[in-house]
Amino acid sequence: MVTTEIADKIKRLEEKYAAMGQDLSSYLDGLLYADYLTYWDYIQLDVLLNLQHPRTPIPDENIFIIYHQITELYFKLTLQAIEQVCQAPELTADLFKTQLKRINNYFRNLINSFEIMVDGMDKQQFLQFRMALLPASGFQSGQFRKIEICSTGLVNLVYEPQREELKGKGLSEVLDRIYWRSGATELATGKKTLTLRQFEEKYMRDFLFLAERYQENNMQLRYKQLPPEVQEEVMPLLKEYDLNINVRWPLMHYKSAVRYLNRKPEDIAATGGTNWQQYLPPRHKRIVFFPEIWTAEELDNWGKLAFE
Ligand code: HEM
Repeated sequence: MVTTEIADKIKRLEEKYAAMGQDLSSYLDGLLYADYLTYWDYIQLDVLLNLQHPRTPIPDENIFIIYHQITELYFKLTLQAIEQVCQAPELTADLFKTQLKRINNYFRNLINSFEIMVDGMDKQQFLQFRMALLPASGFQSGQFRKIEICSTGLVNLVYEPQREELKGKGLSEVLDRIYWRSGATELATGKKTLTLRQFEEKYMRDFLFLAERYQENNMQLRYKQLPPEVQEEVMPLLKEYDLNINVRWPLMHYKSAVRYLNRKPEDIAATGGTNWQQYLPPRHKRIVFFPEIWTAEELDNWGKLAFE
């Protein structure tokens, strides 16, 4: 028996398909024959579990691959949350706070789980399989760079001493000086590492496009556009965001580099070819997305352990 509720739904469906010039009856035929959805198809489980292709038979390489993949998925969620804040036609305090809380949760999870890298692989195994990965490096995480670009004015991603001379310059010139480019360039010769060259070839155009798209509405500007009383409400969450991405996560990450690459008297070279002891610590890098919400003293102490 067709109830009035079902009849009403059929009518609405008819209207929906008619509006697109489609015939409801054919779509109902489709429903008759369609399979039931399963969990494994819905989340593409077979594909997911087949996305690990170690370069060596060394068992712990799988941990390294899977943890990078987990991190990239959290980066994807972060970018989706940023997009919702930055592209919202009308940004409310609630929307901003909801998305900031989500991002902070993602990064809290990443920071808390980084022990999986720091202490979760056999050091000898790591040192063996890493040579098969040359010249790939997490340095080439395009999503991490995108999070940075969407978070703040591009000039804040240039090392501090070089910012002054970039005043009034276009985005493309600022992008040329973004901190990680000089990080992967040999000081003596000015030559770019292969890791950097390949990374630039794949992503530089995307980064410029993104920087243009977010020039007027990155997270920093979105915050500045809020009325003062709302800024105050949002500020603690924004501080967490800055600390999570620019201090806490980099410190945990640095800890893993120290565990595997620190060796007396000479450290082991990184696969990406940076001078990693200089390049990685947040107290050297001093990237801050929202300098206006920190005191001069806090900025002076940026990245120091006590600041954790
Ligand atoms: C044992 C674990 C790890 C070690 C020893 C390690 C080591 C390094 C080193 C030495 C660098 C400097 C670039 C280079 O010369 O290669 C670097 C950069 C980087 N790695 Fe890792 N890494 C590890 C895990 C991870 C994980 C799980 C991720 C997650 C995606 C990641 C993401 C990054 C990013 C985004 C950078 C660039 C950082 C920046 O530019 O400030 N790394 N890593």
